[in-house]
Amino acid sequence: MEKLIIAPSVLAADFANLAKETSMLNESAAAWIHIDVMDGVFVPNISFGFPVLEAIKKHSTKFLDCHLMIEKPERYIAQFAKSGADMITVHAEACPHLHRTIQQIKSEGCMAGVAINPGTPVSVLEDVIEDLDLALIMSVNPGFGGQSFIANSIQKTSQLKTLINSSGKDIYLEIDGGVNKNNAVDLIQAGANVLVAGSFVFASVDPKSTIQELLDLV
Ligand code: DX5
Ligand code: ZN
Repeated sequence: MEKLIIAPSVLAADFANLAKETSMLNESAAAWIHIDVMDGVFVPNISFGFPVLEAIKKHSTKFLDCHLMIEKPERYIAQFAKSGADMITVHAEACPHLHRTIQQIKSEGCMAGVAINPGTPVSVLEDVIEDLDLALIMSVNPGFGGQSFIANSIQKTSQLKTLINSSGKDIYLEIDGGVNKNNAVDLIQAGANVLVAGSFVFASVDPKSTIQELLDLV
């Protein structure tokens, strides 16, 4: 497993300057770009879909980490893979046939992740952990950028780390929501190795140095 990965969320980027934002990220120390897809049903907000992912793919040299906050994501896995996703993460709460959906993501040639909401226990991942490339703890209720970090997420990160260790597999442990330099160290110490950061990066004066600043915490 690589060292710490920063995955800036383009939800907080300037959509009218997406090419510029993407090349800024290309030049940055961020290894991944986090892409938040929202359907207005699973979460109370609509963000963007395939055309935006395809536009980012065209300009990006980074690993594209797609976080699907949508109901029944199995309907669209093939199209997200075709549009350029490297990792496809679905929500456990949105998938009645979670195991099947994970296999579907892999059969499309992508890495597979599962996210859990703040109100969902880590134990939900127990029976699929060995099939995962990534497990994601939501540290805010999904739907919006710029929300405050839920402190209990640090304890959930430790629980997930224990579960990952017991699987004996290399699985990315990603945290998403309200991540900043004040909680990053605790999250890393608890076992996180992928940190999503939206507003903390994009609302800063110099996003590239903010990304570096997060990496320098370890
Ligand atoms: C929230 C999204 C997050 C969001 C993070 O529903 O999944 O990825 O963009 O934004 P910040 O870092 O501002 O909380
Ligand atoms: Zn996200």
